[in-house]
Amino acid sequence: MGGDPMSVDVSQRDTVVGVGAGKGATTAPVLSIVNRKGGAGKTSAVHNIAGVWGTWGLRVLLVDLDTAFNLTEACGYPEELRASGGAWLSSGALEPWDIPTMPNCALAPSGARLAAGVERMERLAIDRERYLAKLLDPLRHAYDVVLLDTKPDLDLSVTSALAAATHVLAPTLTLPQPIYGVVRSLGLVADLQEGLPHLEVIGFLPIGYNGRGLRPAALGSLVEMAWEYGVMCLPPIPFTEHAGKESQSHVPVALAYRNAPVGQYYRYAAALVGHALGLAVPVDWLDRGRQIQEQMVREVLGDEQPDT
Ligand SMILES: Nc1ncnc2c1ncn2[C@@H]1O[C@H](COP(=O)(O)OP(=O)(O)OP(=O)(O)O)[C@@H](O)[C@H]1O
Ligand SMILES: [Mg+2]
Repeated sequence: MGGDPMSVDVSQRDTVVGVGAGKGATTAPVLSIVNRKGGAGKTSAVHNIAGVWGTWGLRVLLVDLDTAFNLTEACGYPEELRASGGAWLSSGALEPWDIPTMPNCALAPSGARLAAGVERMERLAIDRERYLAKLLDPLRHAYDVVLLDTKPDLDLSVTSALAAATHVLAPTLTLPQPIYGVVRSLGLVADLQEGLPHLEVIGFLPIGYNGRGLRPAALGSLVEMAWEYGVMCLPPIPFTEHAGKESQSHVPVALAYRNAPVGQYYRYAAALVGHALGLAVPVDWLDRGRQIQEQMVREVLGDEQPDT
């Protein structure tokens, strides 16, 4: 398996000179990844950002709330356990599974039993949107950050993920349809904001930029939209032909190809998002990420740009 990402030493660490609250903070922030368009890059964003945070020494809990269990597969959760995968949602007993290919990362898996958990939540008479938040709450003391991967259609699992979240991020392939999905997701967050006044929208993470058929112009629209909504548009994760191979290697592309542009840009994203969450992130990646982000905004908005 020459050149296989499995052979990559995932124990390589970036030097962490932390800023922010980080370890020792009392309750971990909860970041929900949403986009109401399917195939927008949600699962890839969770897998890669979590992978980078883990190599920075942050203890990350990944939660797969999609009955299609793509994240669970990407992490390499054993096939023979998938029949009971997701049972934690109805039982309430969640023992996260340590992910061998991602240091400091553990998974609350999805699988054949997740749907039954969602059905159970639907039957709750009172506070059903808060059930997931209550279930995750005790785990927020054992991890530095919790990341929720959601499914594209709107159901109770997605509204519950938003109710459980302290922060939201919408990844989007830089194609028109996923971008409309972002707008619909923002509409959803706005609808819920009255009931969730503390939910903080971080913004957009453009994914697969400048690759086959992906249009650079779409990035400009995203930057403008972020400005209109008063949220951040992160520097775009470049297109990579290696995406999708994680289903075999279980190593996020950001770790397998850490020195390639995809590895670097996932680090900028992990630093900027981590900082927004109050986590300890390496200052070098944060500073450089900020520079790239500010330059991108200047190029798109020119003089329209607000003073910062
Ligand atoms: N940087 C990238 N470059 C090229 N392709 C990418 C990149 N990131 C993700 N992809 C591809 O885009 C597709 C969709 O990604 P992903 O599964 O993460 O989206 P999703 O929003 O989780 O989808 P779903 O709504 O079905 O859960 C996948 O085939 C993935 O391999
Ligand atoms: Mg997905």
